[in-house]
Amino acid sequence: DIDSKYIPKLLDPLNTLSTTTTTVAGGYSIIDKDLQQMSNNIIDLLTNGFNGRGEYGRAKATHPYLASIATYYFQLKGKRIRPTLIMLMSRALSPNGCLTSDSILLAQVYEMMHTASLVHDDVLDEATTRRDMKSINMAYSNKLAILCGDYLLARSSGLMTTLKNPEVHELFATVLAELVEGEIMQIKSTGLSFDNYLRKTYLKTATLITNACRSSALLCGCDRATVDIATEFGSNIGMALQIVDDLLDFTSSPEELGKDVLVDLSLGLATAPVLYAAEEYPELEEMVNRRFSATGDVVLANELVLKSNGLVRTRGLAIEYCNKAIQCLLHLPSSESRDLLITLAQTMATRNK
Ligand code: FPP
Ligand code: MG
Repeated sequence: DIDSKYIPKLLDPLNTLSTTTTTVAGGYSIIDKDLQQMSNNIIDLLTNGFNGRGEYGRAKATHPYLASIATYYFQLKGKRIRPTLIMLMSRALSPNGCLTSDSILLAQVYEMMHTASLVHDDVLDEATTRRDMKSINMAYSNKLAILCGDYLLARSSGLMTTLKNPEVHELFATVLAELVEGEIMQIKSTGLSFDNYLRKTYLKTATLITNACRSSALLCGCDRATVDIATEFGSNIGMALQIVDDLLDFTSSPEELGKDVLVDLSLGLATAPVLYAAEEYPELEEMVNRRFSATGDVVLANELVLKSNGLVRTRGLAIEYCNKAIQCLLHLPSSESRDLLITLAQTMATRNK
């Protein structure tokens, strides 16, 4: 069986050294040009009103200020993990292995929606940096950041209509509603519930990648079984992405991530490292219940997490999700793009930025 060569490459959740670190996305030369095209399309849409098919949209940003805030995060290239996943999935599923203009457009829509959610998230989290730049809420203001996020969302949903696919459009709306649910769940969460943590993680991060991968399969005209495999892959890789993000909040640096670190405790959040650490240090429970609001809570909780096995177990959890994602891919026909997705899933688990 041609696929069996990948089985030994599944990562061992218990024995993967925390020093095994990688970066993720970038360097997939088969989609380099398409990613560049997508980034150009985004700027073109936001400044000139052209959609991804070179057609002139109904309204362009007439206020110069609006175009400059809207394009702010697209001047530099972020990791672009979501468009990378969408493009590789589309190539893996399309009958001739090529990328259609619909798939580039889908990647563009989801990258814009994702960026809109980050612009709003930085207001909620009072962030200071994002993508190696001053975050929009700091560089401009909270008010302008909210408006900028709204504008990105408006433009991405307008672009979505050009796909003329109601099912794909419906998934986009579902993602948006679930992102909001996830944020509300996070703002209101209390107590030590791993189930709630996983549900919140699905809603705030995995839903977008799940439904983006599902949409990609639908646009490729796949049968339902394949659509479901793509969906399940997206769900697993999306869970891993956020779980590693929660880990890196404790272990990484602003230089590596291009954004603030050590913020989750200050925001009152008990993510996987804390939930695991609380099994070893029960004194964390009270701190979690009061959302680390008492003087000294953040410092003490951080110390307990670092000396617990919470960080290693969190990496292990992410690896389990990545392994499940790889198992899904093994059900797809063998291709260069499918194999690059396998590589991406492996690096996702061990990434340090
Ligand atoms: C980042 O989480 C935030 C998200 C993944 C989702 C944010 C969603 C909203 C604010 C709902 C509104 C959505 C739209 C589309 C306007 P994080 O704070 O853990 O990650 P970070 O460290 O990158 O900030
Ligand atoms: Mg945040």
